[in-house]
Amino acid sequence: MAEIRLDGRVAIITGAGAGLGRSHALELARRGALVVVNDLGTSLDGSGNNMSAADAVVAEITKAGGKAAANYDSVSTMKGAESIVKTALDAFGKIDIVINNAGIVRDKTFYKMSEDEWDTVMNVHMKGTFNVTRAAWPLMKDNNYGRVIFTSSGVGLYGNFGQANYATAKMGMIGFMNVLRIEGAKHNILVNSIAPNAASRMTQPLFPPNILEKLKPEFISPLVAYLVSDQCRESGMIFNCMMGWFSRTAIMCSDGVVLGDGKREITAEEIMENWDRITSLDGAKPQNTIANTFAYPAPVMK
Ligand code: NAI
Repeated sequence: MAEIRLDGRVAIITGAGAGLGRSHALELARRGALVVVNDLGTSLDGSGNNMSAADAVVAEITKAGGKAAANYDSVSTMKGAESIVKTALDAFGKIDIVINNAGIVRDKTFYKMSEDEWDTVMNVHMKGTFNVTRAAWPLMKDNNYGRVIFTSSGVGLYGNFGQANYATAKMGMIGFMNVLRIEGAKHNILVNSIAPNAASRMTQPLFPPNILEKLKPEFISPLVAYLVSDQCRESGMIFNCMMGWFSRTAIMCSDGVVLGDGKREITAEEIMENWDRITSLDGAKPQNTIANTFAYPAPVMK
Protein backbone atom coordinates (compact mmCIF):
# COMPACT_ATOMS: atom_id res chain seq x y z
CA MET A 1 0.00 0.00 0.00
CA ALA A 2 1.40 3.42 -0.98
CA GLU A 3 2.14 5.55 2.06
CA ILE A 4 0.30 8.84 2.36
CA ARG A 5 2.73 11.64 3.15
CA LEU A 6 1.99 15.32 3.62
CA ASP A 7 5.59 16.55 3.75
CA GLY A 8 5.84 20.28 3.20
CA ARG A 9 2.07 20.77 3.02
CA VAL A 10 0.85 23.64 5.20
CA ALA A 11 -2.40 22.94 7.04
CA ILE A 12 -4.64 25.27 9.01
CA ILE A 13 -6.78 23.34 11.49
CA THR A 14 -9.35 25.38 13.39
CA GLY A 15 -10.39 24.38 16.90
CA ALA A 16 -7.33 22.13 17.02
CA GLY A 17 -6.67 22.58 20.73
CA ALA A 18 -8.97 19.71 21.71
CA GLY A 19 -11.09 16.80 20.53
CA LEU A 20 -11.23 16.08 16.82
CA GLY A 21 -9.13 19.07 15.78
CA ARG A 22 -6.26 18.02 18.05
CA SER A 23 -6.41 14.50 16.66
CA HIS A 24 -6.34 15.79 13.07
CA ALA A 25 -3.40 18.06 13.93
CA LEU A 26 -1.35 15.21 15.41
CA GLU A 27 -2.15 12.90 12.48
CA LEU A 28 -1.29 15.45 9.80
CA ALA A 29 1.91 16.51 11.57
CA ARG A 30 2.93 12.86 11.93
CA ARG A 31 2.66 12.59 8.17
CA GLY A 32 4.89 15.61 7.61
CA ALA A 33 2.44 18.51 7.38
CA LEU A 34 3.32 21.89 8.87
CA VAL A 35 0.34 22.68 11.05
CA VAL A 36 -1.27 25.90 12.26
CA VAL A 37 -3.06 24.91 15.45
CA ASN A 38 -5.84 27.46 15.79
CA ASP A 39 -7.87 27.47 18.97
CA LEU A 40 -9.58 30.20 20.89
CA GLY A 41 -9.62 27.92 23.93
CA THR A 42 -13.26 28.53 24.64
CA SER A 43 -15.82 26.65 26.69
CA LEU A 44 -18.33 24.35 25.00
CA ASP A 45 -20.88 27.17 24.67
CA GLY A 46 -18.32 29.56 23.19
CA SER A 47 -17.69 31.70 26.28
CA GLY A 48 -14.21 32.64 27.51
CA ASN A 49 -10.84 31.99 25.92
CA ASN A 50 -7.57 30.36 26.88
CA MET A 51 -4.35 30.25 24.88
CA SER A 52 -3.12 27.09 26.56
CA ALA A 53 -5.29 24.78 24.39
CA ALA A 54 -3.44 25.63 21.15
CA ASP A 55 -0.08 25.87 22.92
CA ALA A 56 -0.44 22.36 24.38
CA VAL A 57 -1.07 20.79 20.96
CA VAL A 58 1.82 22.71 19.39
CA ALA A 59 4.03 21.38 22.20
CA GLU A 60 2.80 17.81 21.56
CA ILE A 61 3.55 18.08 17.84
CA THR A 62 6.96 19.64 18.43
CA LYS A 63 7.87 17.00 21.00
CA ALA A 64 7.03 14.29 18.46
CA GLY A 65 9.41 15.91 15.96
CA GLY A 66 6.79 17.78 13.91
CA LYS A 67 6.37 21.47 13.10
CA ALA A 68 3.44 23.59 14.26
CA ALA A 69 2.50 27.18 15.04
CA ALA A 70 -0.21 28.33 17.42
CA ASN A 71 -2.97 30.82 16.69
CA TYR A 72 -5.56 31.96 19.22
CA ASP A 73 -8.02 33.93 17.10
CA SER A 74 -11.71 33.28 16.75
CA VAL A 75 -12.88 31.91 13.43
CA SER A 76 -16.14 33.80 13.84
CA THR A 77 -14.78 37.12 12.53
CA MET A 78 -13.07 37.82 9.22
CA LYS A 79 -10.38 39.69 11.15
CA GLY A 80 -9.71 36.50 13.14
CA ALA A 81 -9.63 34.40 9.97
CA GLU A 82 -7.18 36.79 8.31
CA SER A 83 -4.95 36.55 11.35
CA ILE A 84 -5.08 32.72 11.19
CA VAL A 85 -3.99 32.89 7.55
CA LYS A 86 -1.24 35.37 8.48
CA THR A 87 0.05 32.94 11.12
CA ALA A 88 0.37 30.27 8.41
CA LEU A 89 2.12 32.63 6.00
CA ASP A 90 4.50 34.02 8.64
CA ALA A 91 5.42 30.55 9.93
CA PHE A 92 5.37 28.45 6.78
CA GLY A 93 4.93 30.74 3.73
CA LYS A 94 1.80 29.23 2.11
CA ILE A 95 -1.46 27.37 2.66
CA ASP A 96 -2.36 24.00 1.13
CA ILE A 97 -4.94 22.59 3.50
CA VAL A 98 -7.78 24.12 5.51
CA ILE A 99 -9.66 21.98 8.01
CA ASN A 100 -12.68 23.85 9.34
CA ASN A 101 -13.33 22.13 12.64
CA ALA A 102 -13.89 24.76 15.39
CA GLY A 103 -17.26 24.36 17.01
CA ILE A 104 -19.53 25.09 19.94
CA VAL A 105 -23.06 24.13 20.94
CA ARG A 106 -25.94 26.07 22.46
CA ASP A 107 -28.70 23.49 22.48
CA LYS A 108 -32.32 24.47 23.14
CA THR A 109 -35.66 23.39 21.82
CA PHE A 110 -36.65 25.74 19.02
CA TYR A 111 -39.52 27.15 21.08
CA LYS A 112 -37.02 28.39 23.67
CA MET A 113 -34.12 29.29 21.37
CA SER A 114 -33.03 32.93 21.56
CA GLU A 115 -31.70 35.00 18.68
CA ASP A 116 -28.36 35.14 20.46
CA GLU A 117 -28.18 31.31 20.71
CA TRP A 118 -28.96 31.08 17.00
CA ASP A 119 -26.45 33.78 15.96
CA THR A 120 -23.58 32.59 18.15
CA VAL A 121 -23.71 29.04 16.79
CA MET A 122 -24.12 30.24 13.19
CA ASN A 123 -21.18 32.63 13.65
CA VAL A 124 -18.76 29.93 14.75
CA HIS A 125 -19.81 27.07 12.46
CA MET A 126 -21.22 28.66 9.33
CA LYS A 127 -19.65 32.11 9.24
CA GLY A 128 -16.41 30.71 10.71
CA THR A 129 -16.17 28.16 7.92
CA PHE A 130 -16.79 30.94 5.40
CA ASN A 131 -14.28 33.31 7.02
CA VAL A 132 -11.32 30.95 7.17
CA THR A 133 -11.97 29.34 3.79
CA ARG A 134 -12.49 32.75 2.18
CA ALA A 135 -9.29 34.18 3.68
CA ALA A 136 -7.24 31.18 2.49
CA TRP A 137 -8.93 30.73 -0.91
CA PRO A 138 -6.94 33.29 -2.99
CA LEU A 139 -3.65 31.77 -1.77
CA MET A 140 -4.73 28.25 -2.68
CA LYS A 141 -6.07 29.47 -6.03
CA ASP A 142 -2.77 31.21 -6.84
CA ASN A 143 -0.87 28.01 -5.96
CA ASN A 144 -3.30 25.87 -7.96
CA TYR A 145 -3.60 23.53 -4.98
CA GLY A 146 -6.04 23.27 -2.11
CA ARG A 147 -7.66 20.68 0.11
CA VAL A 148 -10.54 21.91 2.25
CA ILE A 149 -12.54 20.03 4.85
CA PHE A 150 -15.86 21.12 6.32
CA THR A 151 -16.96 19.52 9.57
CA SER A 152 -20.66 18.90 9.18
CA SER A 153 -22.77 16.65 11.40
CA GLY A 154 -25.42 13.97 11.26
CA VAL A 155 -27.45 16.40 13.36
CA GLY A 156 -27.81 18.61 10.30
CA LEU A 157 -27.89 15.84 7.69
CA TYR A 158 -30.49 13.72 9.45
CA GLY A 159 -31.93 15.78 12.33
CA ASN A 160 -31.86 15.74 16.12
CA PHE A 161 -33.99 17.17 18.90
CA GLY A 162 -33.01 20.55 20.36
CA GLN A 163 -30.29 21.58 17.91
CA ALA A 164 -32.00 23.77 15.29
CA ASN A 165 -29.19 26.35 15.28
CA TYR A 166 -26.39 23.77 15.04
CA ALA A 167 -28.22 21.61 12.47
CA THR A 168 -28.83 24.62 10.23
CA ALA A 169 -25.18 25.61 10.31
CA LYS A 170 -24.01 22.05 9.67
CA MET A 171 -26.37 21.63 6.71
CA GLY A 172 -25.60 25.12 5.39
CA MET A 173 -22.02 23.97 4.95
CA ILE A 174 -23.18 21.36 2.46
CA GLY A 175 -24.69 24.00 0.17
CA PHE A 176 -21.49 26.00 0.58
CA MET A 177 -19.40 22.94 -0.32
CA ASN A 178 -21.54 22.18 -3.39
CA VAL A 179 -20.62 25.56 -4.85
CA LEU A 180 -16.94 25.48 -3.85
CA ARG A 181 -16.61 22.05 -5.45
CA ILE A 182 -17.61 23.63 -8.75
CA GLU A 183 -15.65 26.88 -8.33
CA GLY A 184 -12.54 25.17 -6.95
CA ALA A 185 -12.28 22.44 -9.58
CA LYS A 186 -10.26 24.38 -12.13
CA HIS A 187 -7.83 25.54 -9.45
CA ASN A 188 -7.25 22.03 -8.08
CA ILE A 189 -9.02 22.96 -4.85
CA LEU A 190 -10.99 19.99 -3.53
CA VAL A 191 -13.62 20.42 -0.83
CA ASN A 192 -15.18 17.58 1.16
CA SER A 193 -17.29 17.32 4.30
CA ILE A 194 -17.18 14.89 7.18
CA ALA A 195 -19.99 14.05 9.58
CA PRO A 196 -18.11 12.49 12.50
CA ASN A 197 -19.10 11.01 15.82
CA ALA A 198 -16.34 11.00 18.39
CA ALA A 199 -15.82 11.23 22.12
CA SER A 200 -15.03 14.79 23.16
CA ARG A 201 -16.34 17.20 25.75
CA MET A 202 -19.13 17.90 23.23
CA THR A 203 -20.38 14.31 23.27
CA GLN A 204 -19.26 13.22 26.75
CA PRO A 205 -22.74 13.61 28.30
CA LEU A 206 -24.50 11.83 25.43
CA PHE A 207 -23.04 8.32 25.51
CA PRO A 208 -22.24 5.68 28.18
CA PRO A 209 -18.53 5.05 28.96
CA ASN A 210 -18.37 1.74 27.04
CA ILE A 211 -19.46 3.52 23.85
CA LEU A 212 -17.34 6.62 24.46
CA GLU A 213 -14.18 4.54 24.66
CA LYS A 214 -14.89 3.22 21.15
CA LEU A 215 -15.65 6.67 19.74
CA LYS A 216 -12.01 7.71 19.55
CA PRO A 217 -11.32 10.93 17.58
CA GLU A 218 -8.25 9.06 16.27
CA PHE A 219 -10.63 6.85 14.26
CA ILE A 220 -11.81 9.92 12.29
CA SER A 221 -8.47 11.57 11.47
CA PRO A 222 -7.24 8.94 8.93
CA LEU A 223 -10.19 9.83 6.69
CA VAL A 224 -9.25 13.50 6.98
CA ALA A 225 -5.58 12.69 6.25
CA TYR A 226 -6.59 10.86 3.07
CA LEU A 227 -9.00 13.59 1.95
CA VAL A 228 -6.29 16.27 2.25
CA SER A 229 -3.61 14.20 0.54
CA ASP A 230 -2.26 14.45 -3.01
CA GLN A 231 -3.65 10.97 -3.67
CA CYS A 232 -7.26 12.02 -3.08
CA ARG A 233 -9.05 13.37 -6.16
CA GLU A 234 -12.52 13.43 -4.63
CA SER A 235 -14.46 16.66 -4.18
CA GLY A 236 -17.94 17.58 -3.02
CA MET A 237 -18.58 14.44 -1.01
CA ILE A 238 -19.99 13.94 2.48
CA PHE A 239 -18.68 11.15 4.69
CA ASN A 240 -20.17 9.62 7.83
CA CYS A 241 -17.52 8.33 10.18
CA MET A 242 -17.38 6.84 13.65
CA MET A 243 -15.80 3.88 15.49
CA GLY A 244 -14.03 2.78 12.32
CA TRP A 245 -17.19 2.97 10.17
CA PHE A 246 -16.89 5.08 7.01
CA SER A 247 -19.68 5.70 4.54
CA ARG A 248 -20.75 8.22 1.97
CA THR A 249 -23.99 10.13 2.30
CA ALA A 250 -25.40 12.33 -0.46
CA ILE A 251 -28.19 14.62 -1.54
CA MET A 252 -30.04 12.45 -4.04
CA CYS A 253 -32.59 13.15 -6.73
CA SER A 254 -35.06 10.43 -7.75
CA ASP A 255 -36.54 9.90 -11.20
CA GLY A 256 -39.90 11.03 -9.87
CA VAL A 257 -42.73 11.41 -12.34
CA VAL A 258 -43.39 13.91 -15.14
CA LEU A 259 -47.03 14.92 -14.84
CA GLY A 260 -47.02 18.06 -16.92
CA ASP A 261 -46.43 18.95 -20.55
CA GLY A 262 -45.44 22.58 -19.95
CA LYS A 263 -48.88 23.81 -21.03
CA ARG A 264 -51.80 22.30 -19.13
CA GLU A 265 -52.49 23.04 -15.49
CA ILE A 266 -51.56 20.44 -12.88
CA THR A 267 -54.00 19.83 -10.04
CA ALA A 268 -53.39 19.10 -6.37
CA GLU A 269 -55.43 15.91 -6.88
CA GLU A 270 -52.89 14.66 -9.44
CA ILE A 271 -50.13 15.32 -6.90
CA MET A 272 -52.06 13.26 -4.33
CA GLU A 273 -52.69 10.44 -6.78
CA ASN A 274 -49.02 10.25 -7.73
CA TRP A 275 -47.67 10.68 -4.21
CA ASP A 276 -46.00 7.25 -4.09
CA ARG A 277 -44.13 7.90 -7.34
CA ILE A 278 -43.14 11.43 -6.28
CA THR A 279 -41.81 10.31 -2.90
CA SER A 280 -40.18 7.08 -4.07
CA LEU A 281 -36.39 7.10 -4.00
CA ASP A 282 -36.21 4.40 -6.68
CA GLY A 283 -33.42 5.25 -9.10
CA ALA A 284 -32.21 8.12 -6.88
CA LYS A 285 -28.79 9.45 -7.85
CA PRO A 286 -26.57 12.19 -6.44
CA GLN A 287 -26.45 15.28 -8.65
CA ASN A 288 -23.36 17.43 -9.03
CA THR A 289 -24.95 20.62 -10.36
CA ILE A 290 -28.45 22.06 -10.50
CA ALA A 291 -28.14 22.13 -14.31
CA ASN A 292 -28.29 18.32 -14.38
CA THR A 293 -31.68 18.28 -12.70
CA PHE A 294 -33.16 19.82 -15.86
CA ALA A 295 -32.66 16.44 -17.49
CA TYR A 296 -35.56 14.98 -15.48
CA PRO A 297 -38.42 16.92 -17.13
CA ALA A 298 -36.54 16.84 -20.46
CA PRO A 299 -39.51 15.44 -22.40
CA VAL A 300 -41.45 18.61 -21.55
CA MET A 301 -38.70 20.81 -23.00
CA LYS A 302 -38.83 19.19 -26.41
P1 NAI B 1 -14.46 20.17 21.17
O1 NAI B 1 -15.32 21.06 21.99
O2 NAI B 1 -13.68 19.10 21.85
O3 NAI B 1 -13.42 21.02 20.31
C1 NAI B 1 -13.81 22.18 19.63
C2 NAI B 1 -12.68 23.17 19.73
O4 NAI B 1 -13.06 24.34 18.97
C3 NAI B 1 -12.42 23.65 21.16
O5 NAI B 1 -11.05 23.44 21.49
C4 NAI B 1 -12.77 25.14 21.14
O6 NAI B 1 -11.96 25.93 21.97
C5 NAI B 1 -12.58 25.48 19.67
N1 NAI B 1 -13.38 26.66 19.28
C6 NAI B 1 -14.66 26.92 19.59
N2 NAI B 1 -15.02 28.09 19.08
C7 NAI B 1 -13.95 28.59 18.42
C8 NAI B 1 -13.73 29.77 17.66
N3 NAI B 1 -14.69 30.69 17.50
N4 NAI B 1 -12.51 29.95 17.08
C9 NAI B 1 -11.53 29.03 17.24
N5 NAI B 1 -11.68 27.90 17.96
C10 NAI B 1 -12.89 27.68 18.54
O7 NAI B 1 -15.43 19.53 20.08
P2 NAI B 1 -15.24 18.32 19.04
O8 NAI B 1 -16.19 17.27 19.42
O9 NAI B 1 -13.82 17.99 18.85
O10 NAI B 1 -15.84 19.00 17.72
C11 NAI B 1 -15.05 19.41 16.62
C12 NAI B 1 -15.98 19.69 15.47
O11 NAI B 1 -16.65 18.49 15.09
C13 NAI B 1 -17.06 20.70 15.76
O12 NAI B 1 -17.29 21.50 14.62
C14 NAI B 1 -18.26 19.85 16.04
O13 NAI B 1 -19.47 20.53 15.81
C15 NAI B 1 -18.03 18.72 15.04
N6 NAI B 1 -18.74 17.51 15.35
C16 NAI B 1 -18.38 16.76 16.43
C17 NAI B 1 -19.04 15.59 16.71
C18 NAI B 1 -18.62 14.70 17.80
O14 NAI B 1 -19.18 13.57 17.89
N7 NAI B 1 -17.65 15.08 18.63
C19 NAI B 1 -20.20 15.18 15.92
C20 NAI B 1 -20.44 15.97 14.75
C21 NAI B 1 -19.74 17.11 14.51
